[in-house]
Amino acid sequence: MSILAYLEPRMPAAEANHPESDRAEHPTENPATRYHRVLGRIAAACQASGRGIDQVRLLAVSKTQPASAIAALARLGQREFGENRLDEAQLKMDALQTHSLTWHFIGPIQSNKTRPIAERFDWVQSVDRPKIARRLAEQRPGHLPPLNVLIQVNADDEPQKAGCAPDQVEALAALIAGLAQLRLRGLMAIPAPRDDESGQLAVFERIHHWYQALKARGHDIDTLSIGMSGDLEAAVNSGSTMVRIGTALFGERLE
Ligand SMILES: Cc1ncc(COP(=O)(O)O)c(C=O)c1O
Repeated sequence: MSILAYLEPRMPAAEANHPESDRAEHPTENPATRYHRVLGRIAAACQASGRGIDQVRLLAVSKTQPASAIAALARLGQREFGENRLDEAQLKMDALQTHSLTWHFIGPIQSNKTRPIAERFDWVQSVDRPKIARRLAEQRPGHLPPLNVLIQVNADDEPQKAGCAPDQVEALAALIAGLAQLRLRGLMAIPAPRDDESGQLAVFERIHHWYQALKARGHDIDTLSIGMSGDLEAAVNSGSTMVRIGTALFGERLE
């Protein structure tokens, strides 16, 4: 598919191929309805776990969505957006310059792509190895503030998955803390999906424990990026400070 398609609204593939099936849960809703439902879920989850609603931020995962869909959410007040493909993200950043948005890179990082990531993003949530951290630090332009980074941890220790092994997190955090052009803000994880809430809670509690361990080591961190459309409640209950939401905000992804 041409990358220019990301600048135009399109019909989700499933909707085009199967008009009556595979639709998102609420296919006809407008962006405001979806946005306010997600904010309501976050607020309810905060309340249920005795946390203030200002303790959890919403990252809108806009990968595969057109610039027009991002602009619609920006007009409703959403500021932070997550992208995982560099070329696609850069086109949207150019198209949306006037909205003053904050951009998070959330996808796997190849070492030959670090320069534009360091130059254009405000946050990188998927730092998982020393080589990537060093390159981002070297390539972050001096006139910009330090790049905010999260260490992505491979919470289930799945060999095929991106992310730093749990027992390597401390060493990587120490390395990042010594790099002037990076600012370590915390951890990010994408645990394998689980149907049961007790399973969701167990893995999120584990990740929260690693986050607290970094704090106990003296790292001045404030961001635990866990929770997606299907499990944000469990994540907030386990101490998430940033949920990354795609499907519940935009409907089905346009793959
Ligand atoms: C890193 C990351 N976080 C969050 C999301 C959002 O997931 P969901 O659509 O389930 O909200 C995605 C979507 O692919 C993702 O890749």
